[in-house]
Amino acid sequence: FGGGALAGLNILVSAGPTFEDIDPVRFIGNRSSGRMGFAVAQAAAQQGARVTLVAGPVSLCTPPGVAQRVDVRSAAQMHAAVLSGAAQADIYIAAAAVGDYRPREVSPRKLKKQAGADLSLQLSENPDILASLSAQATHPFLVGFAAETHDVAHYAQGKLKRKGLDMIAANQVGEGLGFETADNAINLYWEGGMLELPRAGKAELAHQLLACVAERYRAARG
Ligand code: C5P
Repeated sequence: FGGGALAGLNILVSAGPTFEDIDPVRFIGNRSSGRMGFAVAQAAAQQGARVTLVAGPVSLCTPPGVAQRVDVRSAAQMHAAVLSGAAQADIYIAAAAVGDYRPREVSPRKLKKQAGADLSLQLSENPDILASLSAQATHPFLVGFAAETHDVAHYAQGKLKRKGLDMIAANQVGEGLGFETADNAINLYWEGGMLELPRAGKAELAHQLLACVAERYRAARG
């Protein structure tokens, strides 16, 4: 112990979906299981990093070796937890599927059905956690995820630039890959390079992803 490719590094990982409450019994969520992020957290700990895991609402046990787990529910809570963890982090890996919108108002009472009428829900935009970090003068090495159903490379490279990331991990969802599945296939992009990680289990992919992150991190930050 004490060795490993990531020894001495503080790594912050976010994982899972966010739930945006509508009323006490309903919410807007998404199909992220949290498994990719949890696999990254576990692999990072195995490689010697001190890992903080910010987890959305998932039913997963904390991986062995993870130093700290912070459970959150909404995007706003995840934003606050990530900003506070980022101050000590060398690398932030954003594997969470953060909800882009939240209900503008959360009803304190269960909304009642109005039979025969449509219901409209007003949504407000959530802050982009990665973009707000990259806008800070000093911030960790930033790794984003992009889950896309089509034009994966195009959208991933766009996000890399738009959000000011150091690296983006793009995976195609659907066709037995991505959300709610054991396997994944990931393309990593950074400015001036890319690496293809073919279909594999999420644990194996997490190790390969971290090897590349470690290499790029050392190239960028020494
Ligand atoms: O949802 P999107 O495809 O834009 O997500 C790309 C990356 O940005 C992911 O790493 C995700 O965790 C991050 N993100 C974020 N804050 C948001 C939305 C997404 O940090 N509000």
